Amino acid sequence: MSVTATAQFMLEPILDANKDAGSSRDAIGLGQAAGKGLNTRHGTILTLEDISVSFDGFKALNALSLYIGVGELRCIIGPNGAGKTTLMDVITGKTRPSHGQAWFGETLDLTHMNEVQIAQAGIGRKFQKPTVFEALSVFENLELAQKTDKSVWASLRARLSGEQRERIGEVLDTIGLSTSVHRPAGLLSHGQKQFLEIGMLLMQDPQLLLLDEPVAGMTDAETEFTAELFKRLAGKHSLMVVEHDMGFVGAIADHVTVLHQGSVLAEGSLAQVQADDRVIEVYLGR
Ligand SMILES: Nc1ncnc2c1ncn2[C@@H]1O[C@H](COP(=O)(O)OP(=O)(O)OP(=O)(O)O)[C@@H](O)[C@H]1O
Ligand SMILES: [Mg+2]
Repeated sequence: MSVTATAQFMLEPILDANKDAGSSRDAIGLGQAAGKGLNTRHGTILTLEDISVSFDGFKALNALSLYIGVGELRCIIGPNGAGKTTLMDVITGKTRPSHGQAWFGETLDLTHMNEVQIAQAGIGRKFQKPTVFEALSVFENLELAQKTDKSVWASLRARLSGEQRERIGEVLDTIGLSTSVHRPAGLLSHGQKQFLEIGMLLMQDPQLLLLDEPVAGMTDAETEFTAELFKRLAGKHSLMVVEHDMGFVGAIADHVTVLHQGSVLAEGSLAQVQADDRVIEVYLGR
């Protein structure tokens, strides 16, 4: 992806201004998984500055600033309507902010990219409802996911290279579906469909994964597997996970951001935000 001089010029002052602000970007310190081709010099994969989104005058996001470190696993929590899904909509280009800046790495201005460009740049999103091809096998679903530029049947007829097969094998292991490889996806449990969809995202090797309420409707065992899976993916990928299940959040999160009325209410470890009176009042204490 080309680097525009203007983008580079505009971002420097923003990052410098925040260097000493005590924000989460200082606290993260994970830098080992820098994205391929993505400039993450300051160890930050996602920079949101002063983002507002208005729907007919109602501010779904209100001057929100948030920084995600390279390789970080960040949980976003907050009451219904706090703006969590809208935040993901902004990052993926589905909703344009009325104000503010959104950068992927140091140089990619998300507010000027469309959804396809953002996905191709390395941001993968998992919606709540699984959207796998039910009539196709687990293997075929993964096969399709690595070739987005062809029609379904052309993709399935094309021969896979050894490397592509190997990659599918790796992803099958990661998502725990190696023994279901030939099963039609429609016969999988709800949780397994979710794992398959995560696997389909992984086939694209995204640097940042956005997951909206991934364990909703899962059994306890599936939720536990998801926690293990996300912990394994962190470091190699950066993850932003929205969840209401506090047991799950406690199992995975180093760092939690609490949203309320479209703004960041609190940030820190889960223990820190759980002890915050404002967080208890608007969310956890209900
Ligand atoms: N397209 C839209 N048009 C108008 N209002 C919207 C739109 N999308 C979201 N909103 C409003 O913005 C606010 C934030 O919604 P959002 O879906 O981001 O909340 P959330 O934090 O994801 O909530 P939940 O935990 O219930 O999923 C809500 O008041 C919602 O009604
Ligand atoms: Mg939501």
